[in-house]
Amino acid sequence: MNRSPRERDIAHVLHGYTNLRAHDAKGPMVIESGEGIYVRDSEGRRYIEGLAGLWNVGLGFSEPRLVQAATRQLERLPYYHNFSHKSHDPQIDLAEKLVAMAPAPMVKAYFANSGSEANDSAIKMLWYRSNALGQPRRKKIISRARAYHGVTIAAASLTGLVNNHRSFDLPLPNFVHVGSPHYWREARPGESEEQFAARLAQELEATILREGPDTVAAFFGEPVMGAGGVIVPPRTYWEQVQAVLRKYDVLLVADEVICGFGRTGRMFGCETFDIRPDAIVLSKQLTSGYVPMSALLVNERFFAPMAEESNRVGVFGHGYTAGGHPLAAAVALETLKIIEERQLVPHAARMGRLMLDRLHALETHPLVGEVRGAGLIAGVELVLDKKTRQAGKNPGDLGTLVNACLVEQGVISRNMLDAIAFCPPLIISEAQVGEMMDAFHRALDAAAARIEQTG
Ligand SMILES: Cc1ncc(COP(=O)(O)O)c(C=O)c1O
Repeated sequence: MNRSPRERDIAHVLHGYTNLRAHDAKGPMVIESGEGIYVRDSEGRRYIEGLAGLWNVGLGFSEPRLVQAATRQLERLPYYHNFSHKSHDPQIDLAEKLVAMAPAPMVKAYFANSGSEANDSAIKMLWYRSNALGQPRRKKIISRARAYHGVTIAAASLTGLVNNHRSFDLPLPNFVHVGSPHYWREARPGESEEQFAARLAQELEATILREGPDTVAAFFGEPVMGAGGVIVPPRTYWEQVQAVLRKYDVLLVADEVICGFGRTGRMFGCETFDIRPDAIVLSKQLTSGYVPMSALLVNERFFAPMAEESNRVGVFGHGYTAGGHPLAAAVALETLKIIEERQLVPHAARMGRLMLDRLHALETHPLVGEVRGAGLIAGVELVLDKKTRQAGKNPGDLGTLVNACLVEQGVISRNMLDAIAFCPPLIISEAQVGEMMDAFHRALDAAAARIEQTG
C-alpha cells in the first residue's frame, strides 16, 4: 500500500527548527500550492503566509515573471561558475546592480547560497583581511544577544540565541556578544530610549576595551533583529554604536538578510536607520525565496587588503560551486526589477503603517504586552500579566498557544518564544492586511478564552 506524504515525511525528512521526536506524532503540515500571499495545505485549507515563508517571499507565491526569468536562463545557460576568472552575464549584471543600489559605497559582490554561508564567508574574509594587514590578532567578532545570523558553525557563533548554541558546542572562541537593543524588556526604570542606547554603546566600548581593540575585527548587526523576536532598536542606537566602532577602527557588517529590499519601508534597513556599513549581507527577498541565493557586498576598505593577500599567496582560496548561479542571478535581477517597477518599497511602507496601526489598537488586549515594528515587519510581545510583563512559567508556551490559534484562524506565522511576528509578502493589499489583523484579533480572543477555561 502506498504511504501518505505525511507518513513518508515522518519516516525520512529530518526537519530544521522542529522537535525531532515530537514530529513522529505531530507530523508535517504539507503545503501544496501558493497564490499571491496565500498558501494551501494538503487538506485544502488556505492560509495567509503572515511571515512570507521565512521572511523571504516578498513577491508572493505565484509571480509568473520569476518563473519566466528562471526558464529563460535555464534554456540559455543552466550553470556556470565564477572560479578561475570565469563569469556569466546574470552574475555580472547582478553584481553591478547590487553595488549601484547599495545604501553605502561598495565595490564588490560575492555570491553564496544562504544567509548563513554569506555570513560565514564574511567572517573568513575578515580573518583573511586581518592577516593581510599584518594584524593576526585581530580576529574577534562582536555580535548581540538575540541576533540571528544563521546556523553554519561561524554564523551560529554570531547568532545570539541559546537554542543555536546549546548542545552544539557553540559559540566558537573569539565570538563575543553584547546586549540586545530591546528597550521594552531591557531598559531600566525611567531610562529614555536615548539613555538606553547610550548604555548599550558604553557596553560595546567596554567590551572592545576589555577584549583589546587590536583584537576586534568587526561588529555584525541586523538593522532590525528578525528571528530574535523583531527587535526595533531604540532611537539613536545605531548612531551611538557606529561612533564607538569608528573610534576603535572596528568594521561594521550590516546583516540585511531580512531587512533588505523594502522590508523596513526603505530599500535597505541601513537607510531606515542611517547605517554606513563596510559590508552588507543580502539574501531572502533578493530572489523572493524562489531560488537560494545570498550576496555579500564589501567596500574598498574591506576588499583591498584581501586582494593584496590573494596576490601574495597566489589565489583567494574560497568559493562555492553554486556561487552566483545563473538561475539564481536571473531570478534576483527580475525580482529587483519588479520591486522597482511596481514601487513595492513605498507600498510596503504604506501597508506597514496600516498593519502597525491595527496592532497598536490591540495594545489594550489583555494578552498584548508590546507592539513593535518598522515598515512591513512587526512583533507582538504576549504577556499574561501586563504589570510584571511576564508571559507565564514556561517561556514560549503562550506564544505557542497564540500561534496555534492564529493557524486555526487561517494565518501562518511564527512565535519566537512569546513574541508573534508579522512579515507578510511585500505585495499584500490593504484588504489583506485587514484580513490578517482580523484573524489575529480572533486568535488572541480564542487564546484568552482557552487560558480562562484551563486556568
Ligand atoms: C538576519 C539573518 N541573517 C542570516 C540568516 C540565515 O539565513 P539562511 O537561513 O539562509 O542561512 C537569517 C535567516 O533567517 C537571517 O534572518
